[in-house]
Amino acid sequence: MMADVFYISIFSKTKRGSTRPSINCPMCNFVVVGNLATTNPDFSLEDIPGTSGRIDILCRCINSAFVLSHGIRRDVQIYLIFRGGPSPKTVQLRGRDLRHLNPDERTTAALLKKALALEADSEWRKSTPGIFVRAGDLADLEVFGEGTTYYLREDGSDFRGLSSVGDGTFVLGDHIGLSEVDEAFLEGLGSKIVSVGPISLHADHCIVLINNELDRREASAEMDEK
Ligand SMILES: C[S@@+](CC[C@H](N)C(=O)[O-])C[C@H]1O[C@@H](n2cnc3c(N)ncnc32)[C@H](O)[C@@H]1O
Repeated sequence: MMADVFYISIFSKTKRGSTRPSINCPMCNFVVVGNLATTNPDFSLEDIPGTSGRIDILCRCINSAFVLSHGIRRDVQIYLIFRGGPSPKTVQLRGRDLRHLNPDERTTAALLKKALALEADSEWRKSTPGIFVRAGDLADLEVFGEGTTYYLREDGSDFRGLSSVGDGTFVLGDHIGLSEVDEAFLEGLGSKIVSVGPISLHADHCIVLINNELDRREASAEMDEK
């Protein structure tokens, strides 16, 4: 019990672990491609995996990206690509403004349902606090212009082995992974292909590992400063 208290007290001092926004805080972006995720809000909250094109995967990624023991990561954003429809949509969640996010999948899916019910054009439209929607696919994201892009793939170089990691955008696939066209697009951006380990994991678990690695690096940098 004492060990737990000590651990939490260290991390509560870090910027990444903070539940308050910090102007010096580096921004971490996640992008998850939902190859079959429906653009239509009429999926059932009673059977999310069976009726939505696996929006349950995207909900778990949201949970892993933002949810802390006692708060929300304010320095994280996630972009979810919904390709299960006549034209793709993107939903963005911004940690600094996010409200009404609970750890359970059903509530998260209900937030996505609300966003998908809005008319989507080329401009971001606010759904609920911190959640925005617009028309568009992976290649339409402006976030790739900011910092390094990392493509998460099982055979990439070890993410832990990278000497420095600044502001970054981490791109992941769903249960299907990324297509050759997506991979060519990411290659064109000069993205780094990185792995979080030798075994194929679920996308949400990869996000936990990335967040954890960044937390540890930040905590150790802050210790070195003292
Ligand atoms: C369930 S996996 C996809 C499996 C899919 N059948 C494939 O072959 O791409 C979901 C996503 O998590 C990421 N991923 C899974 N394991 C990983 C690992 N060990 N290192 C880096 N990324 C990983 C990849 O982005 C992958 O597209």
